[in-house]
Amino acid sequence: MTPASRMASVNDVDVATDDRIDLPGPSLLGGMPLVEALNHRRSRREFAVKTPTLEEVGQLCWAAEGITEGERALRTVPSAGATYPVTLYVVKPYGVYRYDPVGHCLYRHLSGDVRPHLQNAADDQPAVGEAPLCFVLALELSAVAARYGRRRGWRYALIEAGHVAQNLLLQAEALELAGVPVGAFEDTQVAHTLGLPAGLHPVYLLPVGAPVYRST
Ligand SMILES: Cc1cc2nc3c(=O)[nH]c(=O)nc-3n(C[C@H](O)[C@H](O)[C@H](O)COP(=O)(O)O)c2cc1C
Repeated sequence: MTPASRMASVNDVDVATDDRIDLPGPSLLGGMPLVEALNHRRSRREFAVKTPTLEEVGQLCWAAEGITEGERALRTVPSAGATYPVTLYVVKPYGVYRYDPVGHCLYRHLSGDVRPHLQNAADDQPAVGEAPLCFVLALELSAVAARYGRRRGWRYALIEAGHVAQNLLLQAEALELAGVPVGAFEDTQVAHTLGLPAGLHPVYLLPVGAPVYRST
């Protein structure tokens, strides 16, 4: 798959203007009460054409992995030994980005629309190819495995990915966006499609977009 520095070979328009996108600071007050988000949360697999705003992308990334305590760089998500094995990628129609929690920014990782390939790797699930955003959680195990051993490290990393996903999906709900957790995919095909570096293991896809219908 094409690195950001080269033109994409699939489909594509390279409209990203910069390799780094600074995200708007998160909104830290107000919003939908947690109980309301919990009560409304549902897996939603259909998306309106409307593209989420950069503010919404920033809020979702922050909810997933954002820094909330500067000195030790602690995050919204709990982490075994604060080892933070989860890396968050954001798949957009024109490229793939990696979230940097410290800078609260996105770095372009790939150019072009990889969503058809991602859908293909995920049992051809339409939600994966149609969502204007698809968050990908990938695990890097070296720090957590060094501290807890490989088996325990894997377990802790997977548990943490669940925390990250739930943070992100509840935030999506609170923003009145639709989202669904997707675990059914072929790991190596997703890793290849996203051009993940060796040692990064994709474990969860989270397609997100504006809902076509909201029942409540
Ligand atoms: C680990 C995990 C993997 C999942 N994988 C998929 C998936 O591949 N495709 C999908 O459409 N939904 C997937 N789901 C969502 C479930 O289908 C959904 O949560 C369940 O039907 C309950 O519905 P609700 O989330 O609306 O309450 C997954 C959920 C979990 C927790």
